[in-house]
This record gives sequence, structure tokens and C-alpha cells, in this order.
Amino acid sequence: MNTQSPGLFIAFEGGDGAGKSTQAARLAGSLEARGLTVLRTREPGGTPIGERLRSLVLDHGHGHIDAHTEALIFAASRAAHASQVIRPALERGEVVLTDRYIDSSVAYQGAGRDLSADAVRSLNEWATSGLLPDLTVLLDVDPADGRRRRTAGDAAEDRLESEADEFHATIRAAFLDLAASRPDAYLVLPAHLPVQEIAERILTRVDALLTFAGRGAA
Ligand code: TYD
Repeated sequence: MNTQSPGLFIAFEGGDGAGKSTQAARLAGSLEARGLTVLRTREPGGTPIGERLRSLVLDHGHGHIDAHTEALIFAASRAAHASQVIRPALERGEVVLTDRYIDSSVAYQGAGRDLSADAVRSLNEWATSGLLPDLTVLLDVDPADGRRRRTAGDAAEDRLESEADEFHATIRAAFLDLAASRPDAYLVLPAHLPVQEIAERILTRVDALLTFAGRGAA
């Protein structure tokens, strides 16, 4: 395990409206039913300071936020999250499921905002002292589909969600590039598949990881 701790660290990534939280909840339920302790968390946020930073960077009404400031706010939230929440849980041997992690910054700030992807990655590896997921589940969503799904029921879009489809298309391509560069560390699934099928495919992959770690289900 690349976390070098007894726990298992899984990140859910993908465009807005991909269904990450639904799938994280399903996976948590399946693993808990087997007696594993699961910690579900999200970014930006996951800690009191992170939640404050989340509202600064996502809510409308804070005036213009330039790309560097935006990247630093996400990284600051992540630093607190990694050191206060994720690493301690992994050291306790828990399974940590996070809705978004470093790849979101590489895709949204690196590619979407046109900062250097390498710079954004380095910033975030520094912020987290190099804590990387054992597996990243990428739910690949078509930008128009994603917008339809997230605005169903008239939900309001946050500052990043309300960017144009072109911005979301750039992000989608960046996520796919990240997955292609390290296929062993990713599970890429089309977000339009039935929820149940996606859940089963994720569980199969996670079972394999747990078996590898000697913690396979009975
Ligand atoms: P998310 O919490 O997934 O949105 P919601 O809960 O509203 O579905 O993410 C909020 C937004 O923040 C999303 O548009 C992606 C963006 N984001 C970044 O731009 N960079 C990051 O590093 C993270 C974690 C999120």
C-alpha cells in the first residue's frame, strides 16, 4: 500500500454531477456491513477550518478570486484535512473515502485555470506531506450530463460549477489524462452506467485491494 499505514485510502474524483457522493455512500455501506470502519469525508472541507475555506472559495460574493489564490485555498484546506483527519484514520487502520482530493486541484486549478499542473501537484504534495490515495475512482461524466444532473430539482450551482461547459470539458480531459498516466492507481467508470453496476464494479476493485492487504472480507 502506498500510504504505508494499515488503513486504505480511496479518493472519488470526477466532474460536477458525476455521482461521487452516491457511490462513496454505497461503498461505505458495503464495507461497514463487513465490519470495516469507514471514514467518509470530502474536500474542500472535512475539518472546521476546511469548511470555512470551502465557503470562501465556493460561495459567490467574495469578489474576484484569482487562480493562484484559489489554488492556495484548496491546498490549505487539504493540508488540514490530510494531517487532522485522513492520516490519523489511516493510522488507526480505517478505510478512508474522500469525495475529491489532489487530482481535483490538478484538474480544476492546473488545467481549468491554466496554472501549471506540475506546480499545482507539487504544492499539494507539499501540503499533504506526500499522502496519496491507494486507489482513485474516477467517475467520468460528460459536461452537459453533469450539469443536467447537478441542477435537477433547481439546485443552485457554486462558483466553480457555474463555469461554462468548455471549462468542464477541459477538466474532464485532465482527469482522464491523470488516470491514463497511472492506470494501476485508478478505476475509471462512465458515470452514465446504472448506479448499481458502478457500485458493484467499485466494490470488486476494492475487494481486490483489501485481499492484497490481507484484510479480505470473510
Ligand atoms: P464538490 O464538493 O464536489 O461540489 P458539491 O458538493 O457542490 O457537489 O466540489 C466543489 C467544487 O470545488 C467543485 O466544482 C470542484 C471544485 N474543486 C476545485 O476546483 N479544486 C479542488 O481542489 C477541489 C477539492 C474542488
